[in-house]
Amino acid sequence: MAAFEGIRPFSAVVQELVDYVSRPDFQFDKVSKVIEADPALAARIMRVANSAAYRIYEPCSSVSKAVVRIGATNVCELAMAMSAMTFFQDLGGVGQKIRDHSAGTAAVARELTFRLGRAAACPKVFLASLLHDIGKLLLIQTGDRAYAALAGENLAPNSVHLKEQAQWGYDHAILGGHVLLSWRLPEPIPQIVACHHQPKVAQRKSASVALSVDLLRVADHVDWLFEQQHDADSPHVQRLVQSPDGTRVGLSEATLMELWDDLRTVRREALSVFK
Ligand SMILES: [Fe+2]
Ligand SMILES: [Fe+2]
Repeated sequence: MAAFEGIRPFSAVVQELVDYVSRPDFQFDKVSKVIEADPALAARIMRVANSAAYRIYEPCSSVSKAVVRIGATNVCELAMAMSAMTFFQDLGGVGQKIRDHSAGTAAVARELTFRLGRAAACPKVFLASLLHDIGKLLLIQTGDRAYAALAGENLAPNSVHLKEQAQWGYDHAILGGHVLLSWRLPEPIPQIVACHHQPKVAQRKSASVALSVDLLRVADHVDWLFEQQHDADSPHVQRLVQSPDGTRVGLSEATLMELWDDLRTVRREALSVFK
């Protein structure tokens, strides 16, 4: 933690955005102006606003429309998440792999949350999913090549953190949660991230955190299944539906089969949006 305390992944524009949106009298016009000062950030936000995750009505043609559509607070958190994700140097492509997995998981989590009628109960699931494995990026930054190689393997969900705990006594989820909190990402995002490998701990927090963690874990698994090119009729899918996470979010095999192609589409799109 001490080694990561000094890291500030936010640009001056993102920091200004965070400070401005935290004022009770903020105005939408000024929010767009702050964003437009950073053309790369503005372009990313436009891409997200026009992605399947947010495209509810018509295409969004300006930053100010994107701010209205996504909401000023969400735009601000999205800007923080995107700068945190792009801050880290890559180590042999492992960083890109983790970023792809995070974007894919976030898109699948958001779509699942909507389709299962859980959006109101879990408003931060998209951002928490986007940041859930940021602890891995932090650990890679320490320059431990053996860890980078481990993190780059396509291991089954819920396995890398056990190796981390054995080696260091903590895992990327706990580390990520603490660091996000120190970067002032608002709760419950740090809590959801910290608990994403400990659903039992999440259940002791709040109903929203517990459900968000379950949805994130299902999405994490679905992303892995797509990555491994499993199809909807794979025995893995059946196992996921019958897992404790799948049961708690109310997933059935029929629902997952029905959503499968849409989940694949939103995931594919997210990979290009967050590149
Ligand atoms: Fe993880
Ligand atoms: Fe993950």
